Amino acid sequence: MKIPNHVGIIVDGNGRWAVKKGKKRSEGHLAGSKNLDNLCQYIFDKGIKVLSLYVFSTENFKRSDEEVNYLMDLFVKKFKNDFKIFSKKDIRIVFSGRREPLKKEILDIIDDITCKTKDNKSGILNFCLNYGSHAEIVDACKKINLEVINNNLNIDIIDEKIFKKYLYNDLPDLDLLIRTGGELRLSNFMLWQSAYAEFYFTDVLFPDFNSDEFDKALLSYSNRDRRFGGINYEKKNN
Ligand code: FPP
Repeated sequence: MKIPNHVGIIVDGNGRWAVKKGKKRSEGHLAGSKNLDNLCQYIFDKGIKVLSLYVFSTENFKRSDEEVNYLMDLFVKKFKNDFKIFSKKDIRIVFSGRREPLKKEILDIIDDITCKTKDNKSGILNFCLNYGSHAEIVDACKKINLEVINNNLNIDIIDEKIFKKYLYNDLPDLDLLIRTGGELRLSNFMLWQSAYAEFYFTDVLFPDFNSDEFDKALLSYSNRDRRFGGINYEKKNN
């Protein structure tokens, strides 16, 4: 089976999972968070090197204060727990997204974990939090502009490879992008990085997206013919 290098997951359907069961939306987020515990370990054990999770978009701030506050508290607990598990496994933890208007408590944890795991080499776990891809590209342009104005960067040498270094994290392009919860859209997730990603959409709501469901996505990925705009001559001649 072909194993992708970088997998991204748009974690969706926690709220609907809870409502279907007559529970509060927050219980769906808790179930999603517990599901992530097992799933992340399974994914790294499969040999995937980079895992990006879209856990909170810039637009998610439009939700009720109660839901946003619940999620922020859950993130703090989860990051502390993930730090314990993944630092032992030599996995680097990084975060992608704008800092404002995140609270100091969460920013401190983000900074602490990023710093403590920065030399880990076996894999990367990237939490996209307060993330939006348009904002990421705009922010990269602003950073580049400053570098050019300060004579630290020559505008003539800027190409895709250099541009990428100014995104929130310099990660490899996505190979496989999964969205749970039945919606067929990208919702502003990693637009730059998904230029040649293979997409996998499933109706399964995130709390039910377990290792068996992940294997289905991998199998589907394995059967794709990735040509990156070229032609697979070997396959054509068969
Ligand atoms: C998308 O909508 C999902 C979120 C806004 C939150 C995702 C959060 C988690 C999986 C919880 C834990 C994650 C960490 C890192 C602690 P939704 O799931 O509310 O979906 P719906 O309303 O469309 O069903």
